[in-house]
Amino acid sequence: MNHRRAFIALTLAALGASAALAADPIKIGLVLPMSGPFAAYGKQIEHGVKLYLAAHGEMVGGRKVELILKDDSPGTAGDVSKRLAQELVIKDKVDILAGFGLTPAGFAVAPVATEAKKAMVIMNAGTSSITTKSNYIVRTSMTLPQGTAPIAAWAAKNGIKKVFTLVADFGPGHDAEAQFKKTFGEAGGQVVGEVRAPVKNPDFAPFLQKIKDTKPDAVFIFFPPGSETIAFMKGFAERGLAAAGIRLIATGDLSDEDTVDAIGDPALGLITSFHYSEVHKSAENKAFVEAYYKAFPKDRPNFMAVGGYDGMQLIDLALKKTGGNADGDKLIEAAKGLKWISPRGPVSIDPETRDIIQTEYLRRIEKIGGKLQNVEFDQINEFKDPGKQ
Ligand code: PHB
Repeated sequence: MNHRRAFIALTLAALGASAALAADPIKIGLVLPMSGPFAAYGKQIEHGVKLYLAAHGEMVGGRKVELILKDDSPGTAGDVSKRLAQELVIKDKVDILAGFGLTPAGFAVAPVATEAKKAMVIMNAGTSSITTKSNYIVRTSMTLPQGTAPIAAWAAKNGIKKVFTLVADFGPGHDAEAQFKKTFGEAGGQVVGEVRAPVKNPDFAPFLQKIKDTKPDAVFIFFPPGSETIAFMKGFAERGLAAAGIRLIATGDLSDEDTVDAIGDPALGLITSFHYSEVHKSAENKAFVEAYYKAFPKDRPNFMAVGGYDGMQLIDLALKKTGGNADGDKLIEAAKGLKWISPRGPVSIDPETRDIIQTEYLRRIEKIGGKLQNVEFDQINEFKDPGKQ
């Protein structure tokens, strides 16, 4: 065979191989808490994933998608998440790992992604350092420092001088506490008390009493949304902290659309900073929210659904760049620097950290058409995770 013929033969073989590759469905393994205390996280993320696929012919990067969902309930037991991720890689032979509702799952699965050389797409877990634990991780949700710095700066600018911080005693809570102290402190504010409470079933009564006695201008709180945040908000109202003139500030985890109805009117007026609101005004969000209610009329779309939706969007865009090739190294290279318009606003993937760069909004809870909503009133564009500095 002369050189020209050999070249043509090789090209045809390569084309054949990539055609076969593209014809095979791409297997995406989702690790999510689908039952137990954080079942709502899995539900929301799965809703987002399904909405993206439904709007794109059940395909990403030109390939049909096969989803394999594993329930890592309770979501906070890293060993459970790790075992399921290993099963997905070894038994199910997935191309991509995705999901991860809570931080312990993100940390525990990072070495699995590294060893298997599979891209790992974090759709919720928000501790800043997770993305440093494997070069195969990319995140489409948020980090806690990213959500915390804007409300800390807002508080200092709006007459709040003394703050008591109350956080859940695990990664995202520690991140929120550290960033709040840093930003608020640098702006001249003072943290006059701090408490770390257990993630599950804390008794808020003694903390609320301590806060009342300390008389701060405001309380800053981060807790993973669920029965705890609902109980805290009720306790805050019932124990007369608001009546004593103590204000409440938080990241948007406290007033997310999935739990705010259960909190009810005590949430009115709450100011938070965050990256997603159901009433964010954009064509992309309007389409997302309409599709959400059509498909899931009993639920309200929240930031976790958007994290799932954008996780699929990222996989789709990265695969389009690699020509459908899901090789972990190629896919992560393709993900670096990607930009798109999310339902939350413009986003991109920081090529240095593989974390998401996005707009942070300041929002106030108001009632719109009888529904409690996070109404955006200010914003910081292209905000990188300050936790990496
Ligand atoms: C987390 O575990 O990282 C986490 C959970 C719930 C949130 C944010 C972060 O709202």
